[in-house]
Amino acid sequence: LRVAVLISGSGSNLQALIDAIESQQLPGVEIVLVISNKANAYGLQRALKHKLPAIYIPWKKREEVEERISSLIRIFQADLIILAGWMRILSANFTAQFPQRMINLHPALLPDDGGSSYTTSDGSVIPALRGLHVIEQALEAGLKVTGSTVHYVIPEVDAGPVIGRSEVLIEPGDTAETLQEKLKLQEHHLIVEAVRAYSQQ
Ligand code: GRF
Repeated sequence: LRVAVLISGSGSNLQALIDAIESQQLPGVEIVLVISNKANAYGLQRALKHKLPAIYIPWKKREEVEERISSLIRIFQADLIILAGWMRILSANFTAQFPQRMINLHPALLPDDGGSSYTTSDGSVIPALRGLHVIEQALEAGLKVTGSTVHYVIPEVDAGPVIGRSEVLIEPGDTAETLQEKLKLQEHHLIVEAVRAYSQQ
């Protein structure tokens, strides 16, 4: 399975995939391309350190950027595209080119039915937070539980069939930073498991 990873920042989920591949936990999986829309994304350095092709595409006109990404995906023959902290919305035209081939990591709990609420394992109903700043929103809403979701990408933002999710308790004293760290630790397992399942299907 040839994987392209799109990032905008630290790339800790990219690192989780690199580590899983290097320790033979993802047989048959190869990262063939890393794309960042930020020149200073630390994830680019992680990619280079592991000798992975890493490309920075400055965000100018969306159609041009998407055309470049599509070409790169074709040239590098990526089967699966992972949005791992990719912070730009991609057009319906773009995402429609990769049905069942693109997955996204989102730091909130999303329901199976695309609805506006999610029922946690302890039975509480919380809002399904979509878009940007959802970690801050979870804190502001006083939620006791949040989590992360990995799902297939469809044109609608932060929707699409759910592959996996993991709940995280919000504790008194949690800040956006501490909560993000906890979420990312879960995501590192989620993304590896999602890629494993995908590679075995
Ligand atoms: C993750 O929390 C992901 O859910 C969100 O962006 C973050 C990326 O973190 N979409 P990293 O760049 O993989 O460290």
